[in-house]
Amino acid sequence: MIRDIVIYPDKRLKEVSKEVTQFNDKLHTLLDDMYDTMVVKNGVGLAAIQVGVRLRVLIINIPIENGRRGESEQPKENTLEIINPILLETDGYTKHQEGCLSIPGIFEDVERASHVKIEYQDRYGEKHLIEDDEFLAIALQHEIDHLNGKIFIEKLSFIKRKKFEKEWKKHRNNTL
Ligand code: CO
Repeated sequence: MIRDIVIYPDKRLKEVSKEVTQFNDKLHTLLDDMYDTMVVKNGVGLAAIQVGVRLRVLIINIPIENGRRGESEQPKENTLEIINPILLETDGYTKHQEGCLSIPGIFEDVERASHVKIEYQDRYGEKHLIEDDEFLAIALQHEIDHLNGKIFIEKLSFIKRKKFEKEWKKHRNNTL
């Protein structure tokens, strides 16, 4: 089921999400709904707080190219479901253009660590480790920030942030 996305500057985006303790049907429905919502909105990642649920849950699904039709696809089995993530290691430096389903239409360069190692639980509560130094590393940092009440535009310089707020106001007025 597709859920409504919380749009900036909604205050819920500043909330720190709570640890998941029950790996039950309710959690599984949330994860399934988050996938449906992310795919219909053409996103690559989504945190639970972006659908108004204050739990340490995030999903990532990096699209794969469909060579024949030149379209990208996000099969459900490729979805990384990450619950209660813990950042074990971050190092290196990278800069990459990011966007966010809570700030649709805005894309900005953001500085991040280039390599991350994370411990997390899956939908059944089983623990896993994941390590990456490519796009997934960036996506993980972006989504984990959401669990801590942070959004990517907070990482912009003062001047770029002011420019964004101005652009966003205009953008919102046009789409409302
Ligand atoms: Co986001």
